[in-house]
Amino acid sequence: MNKVLVTGGAGFIGSHVTDLLVEKGHEVVILDNLSSGDKKNINPSSLVTFVEGDVRDEKTVSETFRQHATIDAVVHLAAQSKVGPSLESPQNDLDINIHGTVNVLEGARKHNVSNVVYSSSAAVYGHVEVLPVSEQASAAPLSPYGVSKLAGEEYVKAYGRLYDLNVSVLRFANVFGPRQSAATEAGVITIFIEQLIEGTQPTIQGDGKQTRDFVYVKDVVRAVVDCLEKTDKIASPNPVYNVSTETMTSVEELLKQLCSAVGENFDPLYVEERKGDIKHSYLSYSKLSEEFDWAPETKLEEGLVNTVEYYRSLT
Ligand SMILES: NC(=O)c1ccc[n+]([C@@H]2O[C@H](COP(=O)([O-])OP(=O)(O)OC[C@H]3O[C@@H](n4cnc5c(N)ncnc54)[C@H](O)[C@@H]3O)[C@@H](O)[C@H]2O)c1
Repeated sequence: MNKVLVTGGAGFIGSHVTDLLVEKGHEVVILDNLSSGDKKNINPSSLVTFVEGDVRDEKTVSETFRQHATIDAVVHLAAQSKVGPSLESPQNDLDINIHGTVNVLEGARKHNVSNVVYSSSAAVYGHVEVLPVSEQASAAPLSPYGVSKLAGEEYVKAYGRLYDLNVSVLRFANVFGPRQSAATEAGVITIFIEQLIEGTQPTIQGDGKQTRDFVYVKDVVRAVVDCLEKTDKIASPNPVYNVSTETMTSVEELLKQLCSAVGENFDPLYVEERKGDIKHSYLSYSKLSEEFDWAPETKLEEGLVNTVEYYRSLT
């Protein structure tokens, strides 16, 4: 690879993707409008160029490809990535997540990019009876956010079929780790940590028995970079992979582990559950494991301790 365009590279996952690419000696161009990302997250290496701009703006996207003519791979992460706001403004969600994705794909197609990795979500599945959820499960999203990510997937796969583009779709479970904003899709960990560090009572939406599959960000970015670097391992064109730990953790259990990582103990306040939330989510990663020999390496406890340390360092 010459140069990788990372959309959303100032955000949580995008900044870690950039860090790993830089560590491996790749040049990175970040396109981000800083709506939820932060310049502080951007790797200061001279291998990184930051372009402040919006993926909804076709001119900005095509100008970014034109000015950085050697971009030959794209990791598309820029998105409205929260379920709640997607219920309040599905139009905004559609605009960023679908329109923005099409702009990025058009840019990639016109500028001879060879490889596109698209970040999708477990939110595309909705409620699934058979757990762990495999990539073959039918998609029935419960929120406009999930619909927009699924539509993005379909555009990405269609571009893979139509043009000379290697595309991979990664469906992330609940990603966590340093630099995650409390407002993101899986921000429950950051929210709890902030509440515990401040000494306020943590709030659980629903009965706390809902389960999630929490995967550490460093493991997620290894999967992203595998899709860029090991295209020879991909078994069939336009693949979709879950990126997960195949482990169910209830929100109550998560809070318990966090209390021990922070060294504080609080009884949570239970409030009404959020609309559009999936009750149980637990994804199989066997496809990623078979093709890339990928497995999550960071245990939940270790990831939580690293994340708590990061937020403590900010106070
Ligand atoms: N965090 C998770 O648990 C999770 C789970 C599943 C999928 N995802 C997906 O992973 C991707 C990254 O999520 P994240 O958690 O890092 O979120 P994030 O909000 O930290 O990062 C998104 C980045 O995109 C930028 N952005 C948003 N709208 C933009 C626009 N119109 N133009 C340019 N830049 C824009 C933001 O400023 C931010 O830097 C998203 O596509 C999200 O849907 C995340």
